Amino acid sequence: MKKIKLDLGKRSYDIIIGKDALRLLPEYLKRLGIPRDIFVITNTYIYNRYGAILKRELGKSFALKFYATIDSEKAKSIASAVKIIDFLAGYAGQKKIAVCAFGGGVIGDLAGFIASIYKRGVPLVEIPTTLLAQIDSGIGGKTAIDLSQAKNLVGTFYQPKAVLCDLNFLLGLDKKQLRSGLAEAVKYAAIRDKGLFEFLEDNYQAVFSRDISALNHLVYTCANIKAKIVQADEKEEKGIRTILNFGHTIGHAIEAAGSYTRYGHGEAIALGMLSAARISEHLGLLDSQACQRVSHLLAKIGLPQEVTGIKESGVLKACKLDKKFSGKRNRFVLLKGIGSSVVYEDVPEGIIRKSVSELFIN
Ligand SMILES: NC(=O)c1ccc[n+]([C@@H]2O[C@H](COP(=O)([O-])OP(=O)(O)OC[C@H]3O[C@@H](n4cnc5c(N)ncnc54)[C@H](O)[C@@H]3O)[C@@H](O)[C@H]2O)c1
Ligand SMILES: [Zn+2]
Repeated sequence: MKKIKLDLGKRSYDIIIGKDALRLLPEYLKRLGIPRDIFVITNTYIYNRYGAILKRELGKSFALKFYATIDSEKAKSIASAVKIIDFLAGYAGQKKIAVCAFGGGVIGDLAGFIASIYKRGVPLVEIPTTLLAQIDSGIGGKTAIDLSQAKNLVGTFYQPKAVLCDLNFLLGLDKKQLRSGLAEAVKYAAIRDKGLFEFLEDNYQAVFSRDISALNHLVYTCANIKAKIVQADEKEEKGIRTILNFGHTIGHAIEAAGSYTRYGHGEAIALGMLSAARISEHLGLLDSQACQRVSHLLAKIGLPQEVTGIKESGVLKACKLDKKFSGKRNRFVLLKGIGSSVVYEDVPEGIIRKSVSELFIN
């Protein structure tokens, strides 16, 4: 079992990673003084597949109440949050309660938000069950709700008391879900860790085969990078946490331009990373060989190399590069090498346009 300490003074917590990590949870939560009553927010799919396991491991020492939402990004809505809080208030009454997020990033964002606002904050325990959630969304305290205007428009910073990554959950993920987690892993590798990049080049197939030692190394290395970045800049105020947005500027624009249905988040940010690597090359920050390596790794993982089914103008518009916004300042996370990144302001618009358009011709 591996443990990463995320040091935030009084708000410090551990990220525990391992196969069968769930078994450690009851003792661990007791030691943390987590209230006996735990309100578990999950979705119907995870509840049906893994609810009994959580009950078995945690139910002897804690009183669990499950709330299963729909299995959809739509669960991250204000209406859904209000409905759950209403139910929680009715259930909890005067009892001291903790909230547990049991699921992927959608559940983590939603349950984290609820834990942060119910009674001005109750203890939160994260049990992330997707690769993306174990290496990214489950760590760092960003909670979120989507509005019709944009995704993640409402949210809080609220750190959990513990994050428990049981690798057994990853064994049930399909290739698409693994790929979407791997896209974020490439992000960490590209911005911070050449060794992780090489590991991904050599071991991506082992990840797809759900090889436990590969998953263990991957989750630990990525979670550690995220923890260290969050530790250095919890609320994204110092320009350090910003590097986690590598690939996300153009990636988000592609997601939005495709109405969030054409490309999944991992696919969209893969395209965004490719574009950001090319911008880095066009600016002379990154040599063409390194840029090719980013592109090859994404391709090997099965992530897209070009955009189809959406208009280039739609992506430019979502990047705010249509006429209306042209001339505004921009900020991109770019690469200086594999494992080395820089936050760059005022990338010439022509270079952004060129790299977006390269995604359409390839
Ligand atoms: N807070 C943050 O810092 C942060 C960072 C990145 C992403 N996010 C958010 O995370 C969300 C995406 O997360 P995600 O990719 O985990 O998506 P998700 O939560 O929708 O999970 C993907 C699918 O996998 C299923 N699933 C979950 N665990 C499973 C398991 N063990 N086996 C089989 N299937 C399983 C889910 O039911 C769902 O259908 C987005 O809403 C995004 O905005 C948040
Ligand atoms: Zn992302």
